Amino acid sequence: MGQDAFMEPLSCTVWVIQCKIYLLLIGTCSGLKVTVPSHTVHGIRGQALYLPVHYDFHTPASDIQIIWLFERPHTMPKYLLGSVNKSVVPDLEFQHKFTMTPPNASLLINPLQFTDEGSYIVKVNIHRNGTLSSSQKIQVTVDDPVTKPMVQTHPSSGVVEYVGNMTLTCQVDGGTRLLYQWLKNGRPVHSTSTYSFSPQNNTLHIAPVTKEDVGNYSCLVKNAVSERESDILVPTIYYGPYGLQVNSDKGLKVGEVFTVDLGEAILFDCSADSYPPNTYSWIQRTDNTTYIIKHGPLLEVASEKVAQKTTDYVCCAYNNITGRRDETHFTVIITSVGLEKLEQKGKSLSPLASITGISLFLIISMSILFLWKKYQPYKAIKQKLEGRPETEYRKTHTFSGHEDALDDFGIYEFVAFPDASGVPRMPSRSIPTSNATSRQDLHGTIYEVIQHIPVQQPDDPE
Ligand SMILES: *[C@@H]1O[C@H](CO)[C@@H](O)[C@H](O)[C@H]1NC(C)=O
Ligand SMILES: *[C@@H]1O[C@H](CO)[C@@H](O)[C@H](O)[C@H]1NC(C)=O
Ligand SMILES: *[C@@H]1O[C@H](CO)[C@@H](O)[C@H](O)[C@H]1NC(C)=O
Ligand SMILES: *[C@@H]1O[C@H](CO)[C@@H](O)[C@H](O)[C@H]1NC(C)=O
Ligand SMILES: *[C@@H]1O[C@H](CO)[C@@H](O)[C@H](O)[C@H]1NC(C)=O
Ligand SMILES: *[C@@H]1O[C@H](CO)[C@@H](O)[C@H](O)[C@H]1NC(C)=O
Ligand SMILES: *[C@@H]1O[C@H](CO)[C@@H](O)[C@H](O)[C@H]1NC(C)=O
Ligand SMILES: *[C@@H]1O[C@H](CO)[C@@H](O)[C@H](O)[C@H]1NC(C)=O
Repeated sequence: MGQDAFMEPLSCTVWVIQCKIYLLLIGTCSGLKVTVPSHTVHGIRGQALYLPVHYDFHTPASDIQIIWLFERPHTMPKYLLGSVNKSVVPDLEFQHKFTMTPPNASLLINPLQFTDEGSYIVKVNIHRNGTLSSSQKIQVTVDDPVTKPMVQTHPSSGVVEYVGNMTLTCQVDGGTRLLYQWLKNGRPVHSTSTYSFSPQNNTLHIAPVTKEDVGNYSCLVKNAVSERESDILVPTIYYGPYGLQVNSDKGLKVGEVFTVDLGEAILFDCSADSYPPNTYSWIQRTDNTTYIIKHGPLLEVASEKVAQKTTDYVCCAYNNITGRRDETHFTVIITSVGLEKLEQKGKSLSPLASITGISLFLIISMSILFLWKKYQPYKAIKQKLEGRPETEYRKTHTFSGHEDALDDFGIYEFVAFPDASGVPRMPSRSIPTSNATSRQDLHGTIYEVIQHIPVQQPDDPE
């Protein structure tokens, strides 16, 4: 302060400029500035509270006076303590409670009581030739900190969705001026058509309760000096069954039809969302009669034990608290490996059958043609071949690879077809064909095969 009291002319000039800026900004130019970091300070009852104050002045001063006053609504302001230079003069009534160490203007209140809540006014006077003075007001609140809240549900035994209502109550033992907030899965709950709050927000009413209300609920209680959250509560809500479905471990699923290979066992798993967990039962349908075959979520169907090739099953899920049930129907078709593809393709079965028929017709026709040609005189064949160009005739004649090649010459159509009985036949053996034909060429014609022979038999005489 001594330095401030004897300022150099340059500092004075700087101060004048600063003063003009203050004048522009706040409209006062006292050369004394008192500041407080916060105009509201929240204190905890029974603890010490520190009210920080800073002041600044740019004029030579001899006496520095600090005064603290206390003011409550509708009461007279009270003098607490004051100081000139470094000597403090307290009000004797409060002398043990308020402390100040000038030139530091900050005030320490210890211990803080509810009655200490109100406005604290600090006034700083600086005197030399004239007197500069400035003051600030600090609002002080006094609270007890919040203790840990507890949430209770009513009814505590749980509620059935769409039937019951539920009330969550947040209970707090200690704390003043509490604000309650409800959190569901960590996010604030807002009032909706099903959620409503008490005026204080300390109870949450859910009517009606649904499956969507299942979650982690907690109650957050705050006041100015503290904030505590309750433990998470998961209310008991009975719901379901929902989303019933059947899955199998390896069977193919086509809509609601499962196919399983003959001789294999298939495990079905029935599941639906519900609380408490559903009880599951499996029903088998044969003709018009139905009978329960098993209880529990899993069912094993051993395909050799199934008398029919197509069997209908029903999985029934029942929630014994909500009293609701759901069931799903499905069909198991036992297939052989060959049939499986046909079953999968379903509608492509009939074109395949017609192809098979046409192919059979062609094979029989070709076989007859072959036999007829085999016993025809050589001339007849030669005459037939005269119509072709000489080169083509020679080529086919000389390169054919075996003596009776001319007898084999002709256009043969070969068609491979799947066997409806499930046993894959080897049609290549029943059809006249060269050994050079690979099985992958089964869809080709013999005409092509003959053309390929010279390439595959390089030891030809020519
Ligand atoms: C305060 O201190 C100044 C010197 O710093 C002195 O001149 C003045 O008399 C003092 N005032 C009181 C009331 O002691
Ligand atoms: C006033 O005293 C407090 C400690 O009681 C200290 O933290 C603060 O910095 C002081 N203020 C000034 C302006 O010296
Ligand atoms: C104010 O005090 C200064 C010394 O700090 C002195 O020079 C000046 O004359 C005084 N002014 C008045 C009006 O008393
Ligand atoms: C649930 O609340 C609704 C509306 O708030 C009320 O009409 C209904 O009677 C309540 N049900 C039960 C079981 O208390
Ligand atoms: C609910 O809390 C449990 C642990 O207390 C946690 O595992 C679960 O993920 C929470 N659920 C949600 C939806 O946040
Ligand atoms: C209750 O909570 C709602 C928001 O959930 C809020 O808008 C309202 O101010 C709260 N009321 C009280 C008294 O805290
Ligand atoms: C199955 O039930 C239908 C009517 O639900 C009936 O017409 C039919 O005769 C029954 N078949 C057998 C085998 O019982
Ligand atoms: C409901 O079913 C569960 C098994 O899922 C069983 O433990 C419980 O006793 C049943 N409750 C009633 C009321 O039937």
